[in-house]
This record gives sequence, structure tokens and C-alpha cells, in this order.
Amino acid sequence: MMIDEINWTKKSLISIEPLSRTEIETIFSLAQSYKSAAEKGTLKFDSLAGRTVINLFLEPSTRTRLAFEIATKKLSADTLTISGDASSLSKGESLKDTARNLVALGADLIIMRHSASGAAQYLSEAVDIPVVNAGDGSHAHPTQALLDAFTLKERLGDLKNKKVTILGDILFSRVARSNIHCLKKLGAKVTLAGPNTLVPKAFEAMGVRVSHNLKEALEDADAIMLLRIQHERQTSTHFPSIGEYTTSFGLNERRAHWLKPNAVIMHPGPINRGVEIDSKLADSNNSVILDQVKNGVFIRMALLHLCHSAHLKTKITLPLKAKLTER
Ligand code: CP
Repeated sequence: MMIDEINWTKKSLISIEPLSRTEIETIFSLAQSYKSAAEKGTLKFDSLAGRTVINLFLEPSTRTRLAFEIATKKLSADTLTISGDASSLSKGESLKDTARNLVALGADLIIMRHSASGAAQYLSEAVDIPVVNAGDGSHAHPTQALLDAFTLKERLGDLKNKKVTILGDILFSRVARSNIHCLKKLGAKVTLAGPNTLVPKAFEAMGVRVSHNLKEALEDADAIMLLRIQHERQTSTHFPSIGEYTTSFGLNERRAHWLKPNAVIMHPGPINRGVEIDSKLADSNNSVILDQVKNGVFIRMALLHLCHSAHLKTKITLPLKAKLTER
């Protein structure tokens, strides 16, 4: 039997920028090992047995919070989730004091979602245990970008020179920012599309194409990633109404004919059916929206394992050890 080892040195994940292409591929390779083992019937692994992982979710979430919780449980760690209104943050305790109390209570790793850009970096400097960013303001959502690229690779193979169009509210999107960094590191060509108020030309400085012509942005795309309008982060209106956004930029069946027949349709969720995407397209064979959600568990299992091993300065040994398998 072949034994392999992974020597990972980054104990926290705050954004995609510090990761090399090789490191991104290491995350994918470990995620694939977890996925393959799960598909062969392994229900639980003992990678984080006895460890305590805290999910500090100070902004609403369904997919990310549950995927992290499931990933943590599948790695046999104990997981606890706190939300903002159920914590003493609502009584005026600072984020730093909250985090230091979590460490005093025995936390081995903190996963945090926060509405403020920069909050995850700040937290990682306040504690000496690993911190994984589950989305901070409009700054970064690194695990979303990793699971998106992993899912795209499953459909398209090597992403070098593949064309990916991201359509929608780019200005306020942490998903778009993290995806731009991740896709570019993997060699993909990225186009940003949408109204000029939400997709300013200034994004070209990130090495992407900006297009306000939807037909042009769709017709050469190998994949299209839709984003919802993020009202919670907008302080003023950037187009007259939701209806007018849908009329001008929503992906409907007529506009889908501009796409290549096999173009992959993606969305990080939550989706607003009939607004940024037509319901039939969201459920079509070209859509990988639920594959993204499923892969989110394996990407997060890999990351939690890698960050924890970096903190302990231990190597990850493959093949992975199963703790519980299907009978
Ligand atoms: N994609 C994503 O971050 O979804 P949630 O807000 O439900 O976690």
C-alpha cells in the first residue's frame, strides 16, 4: 500500500491570496481523498478526534455553517456553534475578548463568519490557534472559492485557459473576490459582468476582463457563475429596482442560448429564483449548484485537517484513517 505524507505550514486560512497554486492543488487532493473514501462507505475519520472546533457565526448562513459543522463531525471533533445574538457580543463584549474566552474554554480551532471585512485577519492575530474565514464582509470567502474551483475541475478538467464569467453584484461580493484570485492562480481567464455601477472598470486591475455587454460576456464562457444582489452590504441603490436588474442582467432561457451548449452554471447560494437566475436553468443538467454544496463538505474537511496539522506541526499521513464505516 502506498503511504504518502502532506506537510502543510499555514495554520489559518483568511484569504486565497497567500496560497500558491501547489497549495490549492494540495487542498483539492486531500478533499478528493476524503470524497473518494466517503463514496466508498467511510462515514467518519479520526483526523481531529478529541479536538474542539468553534463555529462563530455572526452573520446568517445555511450552506457554509452546516458544511463546516458536518465536516467537523466527520473528522470526529467536537463542534459548537455560536451566533451573534446568542453570545455576549450582544452585551458589548469585544470580538477579541470573546475569542480569548473561547481559547480559555479549550477551543482548538475557530471558524468565523463576520459582517466586517478584515475581522478574520484581526481574530487570527488575537489568538494563537488556527482561524478559518467563513466569509468576512465584502473581503473574502476563501472556502467558497476553493469548493467552486474544485467543482469546476470535476466538470472541465484542468482550468488553464478555461473562461469563467462571474455575473452580478461584484462590487459587494466576497465570493467574487476570492474566486478571481483562485481561478487566476489556476490559470483560468475571468470575465466580470453586470451593470457598470456593480462592476466598475477598476476591477481590471485584478487582471480580469470587465464587460457590461451580457451577450459578449456569455458567448465564450466555459462556465457562468451567478451572484445574487447583496442588499445587506449595499448602503445605496446601484440600479433602479430588482425587476429592472432581472430585465437587464438576469440569466433567463433566452439569454442562456448565448452560452455554449455545455457551459457550466454555478451559484454559491442562496439563489433568488427568477431574479439573477431562471428557475429552470438553476435545476438544469448544466447546473452544478448542488455539487458545489456537496463538495463544500470535503473541501472544509481537508482545510480543517491541514490547518490543524500546521498548528501541531505534524504531517498528514495518507491513506486516511477511517473511524466508522458503513456495514
Ligand atoms: N454560499 C454561502 O456562503 O452560503 P451561506 O450564506 O448560506 O453560507
